Amino acid sequence: AAPLFPDRAITIAVTGAAGQIAYSLLPLLASGSVFGSRQRVALQLLDLPVTESVLQGVTLELEDGAYPLLELPVKYTSVSEEAFANADIVVLLGSFPRKPGMERKDLLAKNGAIFREQGLVLNRVAKQETRVLVVGNPANTNALTLSQFCTAIPKVNITALARLDHNRLRSLVARRLSCAVSDVHDVAIWGNHSSTQYPDVSFAYTSGVPVGKMRAALGGESQLQSEIIPTIQKRGAEVLALRKLSSAMSAARAIGDHLRDWMLGTASENELVSMVVASDGSYGIEKGLMFSFPVHCYRGGRYKIESSLSIDSFSRKYLEITQNELISERDEAMRVVSKMC
Ligand code: LMR
Repeated sequence: AAPLFPDRAITIAVTGAAGQIAYSLLPLLASGSVFGSRQRVALQLLDLPVTESVLQGVTLELEDGAYPLLELPVKYTSVSEEAFANADIVVLLGSFPRKPGMERKDLLAKNGAIFREQGLVLNRVAKQETRVLVVGNPANTNALTLSQFCTAIPKVNITALARLDHNRLRSLVARRLSCAVSDVHDVAIWGNHSSTQYPDVSFAYTSGVPVGKMRAALGGESQLQSEIIPTIQKRGAEVLALRKLSSAMSAARAIGDHLRDWMLGTASENELVSMVVASDGSYGIEKGLMFSFPVHCYRGGRYKIESSLSIDSFSRKYLEITQNELISERDEAMRVVSKMC
């Protein structure tokens, strides 16, 4: 694809830049595998002061990569204003991780404070065109909190990551059907990036399995319910249990895919990808809720929720469950942050 900004670098701010996901993501951004082999890239890395030496080490490694597209020197800081200033894209990896024994409420409170603050900073220093991608969990609700406090950036420019789940499902379908991943189209993730998400194959197809036949090809509704859906819902936890660390390589890859499609458009115009975006009321999902939908992406950072799919009773049940969870997360987060004002 032609570079988005032929005459200048695309400026990308990354928070949590000393962390695991960043360590896999930064080389993707610097090498041109996200925004193309002709788009110069400027990185503005942010992390907490306690990680300063790690962040500095990562910066040295980026320099040592001698990436032809990467602007030097690479900026790193622990001051959000400096990281976010002039950014075209802000990728928020940093969040307060869930610790053993921590209640969901406590997690929402900690992250409510972080994403309120980041929204306020973005409000002061970001450009209106800035595109924001929230990755740190609970990602949907963190994105919602941020957007409440960041009125300078239109809500359509604030998204969260569902592409990791989307890629997991696409790959699982390919493995089950013994076909290439590239042959699997239009899987969809609905709702929360959590164990209530609904991984949906109703509209998926391959060269051998036409639209409408995918459930049957995968063993029917009972197989979906007992095996395929829970596998995707729990995949993050499975990786965490095995690696003793959250998914990082696959998360970075998903972030690259999300950003590429969002900014440059999907390779084929009809392709559906999954993104957490503010609901426009489609499918009866409460307007404004940050909810993963199947979307179409168009060059220039635009997308449209695909609003004409028909949802049967099997799917509807799952949509309700994940919507209810998101509403309760939102209510709890809003209760907490409203006390901070
Ligand atoms: C994942 O889906 O792998 C992660 O979001 C899990 C986590 O809680 O870090």
